[in-house]
Amino acid sequence: MIQRDASTTSLWQANIEPFQPTLMADHTTTYDVIIAGGGITGLSTALLLQEAGKRCLLLEANNIGFGTTGGTTAHLNTIPDTSYDQITKNFSKEDAGLVRESVGAAIGLIQQNIERFSIDCGFDYTDAYLFAQDEQQTEALESIAKSAREQGINITMQDQLPVPFQFTKAYKITDQARLNPLAYIYGLARAFEQAGGVIVQHCRVMQIHNTTHIKVATSLGEFTGMNIVYATHVPPGINLVHLRCIPYRSYALAVRLADNAYPASLIYDMHEPYHYFRTQDVNGKKYLIAGGEDHQTGHQENTEQCFRNLEAFVREHFNVKSVDYKWSSQFYESADGLPYIGNLPGQPDNVYVATGFGGNGMVYSGVAAMLIRNIIMGKHRATEKLFDPSRIKPVAGFTNFVTHNADVVKLFFGKLLPAHKLTELAELAPGEAQVVNYEGHRVAMFKDEEGMLHAVNPVCTHMKCEVGWNSAERSWDCPCHGARFDADGKVLNTPADRDLEQLDISHDVKPVEVEEQGEV
Ligand code: FES
Repeated sequence: MIQRDASTTSLWQANIEPFQPTLMADHTTTYDVIIAGGGITGLSTALLLQEAGKRCLLLEANNIGFGTTGGTTAHLNTIPDTSYDQITKNFSKEDAGLVRESVGAAIGLIQQNIERFSIDCGFDYTDAYLFAQDEQQTEALESIAKSAREQGINITMQDQLPVPFQFTKAYKITDQARLNPLAYIYGLARAFEQAGGVIVQHCRVMQIHNTTHIKVATSLGEFTGMNIVYATHVPPGINLVHLRCIPYRSYALAVRLADNAYPASLIYDMHEPYHYFRTQDVNGKKYLIAGGEDHQTGHQENTEQCFRNLEAFVREHFNVKSVDYKWSSQFYESADGLPYIGNLPGQPDNVYVATGFGGNGMVYSGVAAMLIRNIIMGKHRATEKLFDPSRIKPVAGFTNFVTHNADVVKLFFGKLLPAHKLTELAELAPGEAQVVNYEGHRVAMFKDEEGMLHAVNPVCTHMKCEVGWNSAERSWDCPCHGARFDADGKVLNTPADRDLEQLDISHDVKPVEVEEQGEV
């Protein structure tokens, strides 16, 4: 079992032991590339660069797989969530072709890594089914299918589904894939070390000073590099990328079925947000993995309800024997539907970022790894411009983006938030949390199962938005750019690089007033 940025437990994290690095980092060495983030993007990039002859150091703030890689449902698709018809509309048909080529190459890279390094991660190619259930969905699905066919994808109409759903139209797509994401990145990590790369866990990147070299200040001291790659979704600090990415939470279950009717394929409906299903064997047991109920981070008051909705949906369609794992994880949508991969805007050209993967992190991580490797090795490709984080596209998705940032302004100044009375402080039941006013200050309070109160300053250390409680994950989530903190304010997700201020309850909450409210 490893740690993850959540209090729930994913199928993957429960079935793997902590990774033990074998090489020591050297504070006196100038590394060619320092990679921040030990998920699939960081490790894929690090391995490619190390194999290309660069001396690489990978720094992970927690344990490898702590972030989204430990919580993804790991679908590998050649049709991304931003479909080819949308990409054609937002960019061009040629660009849609480049995306098609890139995601195909990314799946190829994963397969190649698995074969070269004999990674036992349950990878296999399989069919995917996409189905509509009403007229509007049918129309959208037909458009997706037409544009995918134009990109050479093998997609055919079906009159049957391998799962018990009613549908108006369904398509089958061949050559999609799945795997166990943690088993895969452990294989990458070992291959990276065997090639001479160094991994340091529990080492948070705090700041960089970019002169002739990059001095990287971390929780374990300073390291020096010629280049740095942020594979942390959004980088720490304040950057345009934060204003161009919208953080989302997605929910997943791993269930055992009573009738053994596990679908062999990947299945997707066309709801908004959509549901998805697939099967995976982990340590000799078969699980149906179901996901959906996505929402913007910090914008859902009752996150436990998302699990209840998802479970009810799964039970309606499958004969569930047990729900063995339930978990949620975070992903980031870009403003125009394509990822941001390349030089970090506003920084010298030796600082790189890879983010905005939407729900396609598995394949876009490979796209990012290859593109950043090529840029650093001086091999320029057409995709460099397409995925350039500095691009600005005033497209349909931009409306949402503007609304999102209006939220930032509203919450940043904190004037429009509802006020809570002090009495609410005492009304917390074990397991509940609330942000309350106390003597002119906002206080984020959580009462644990033992009745212990945990209090932090709810002002996000990134850009001062107010965090909100995520009851499903027992975390304080920032609605602005997706930073997350545990109940004691410890950073779980960037872009915040400092913990929330912890408040001394005995000092800040006057015992006499608390007693008046009946609290101990
Ligand atoms: Fe930016 Fe909190 S993540 S203000």
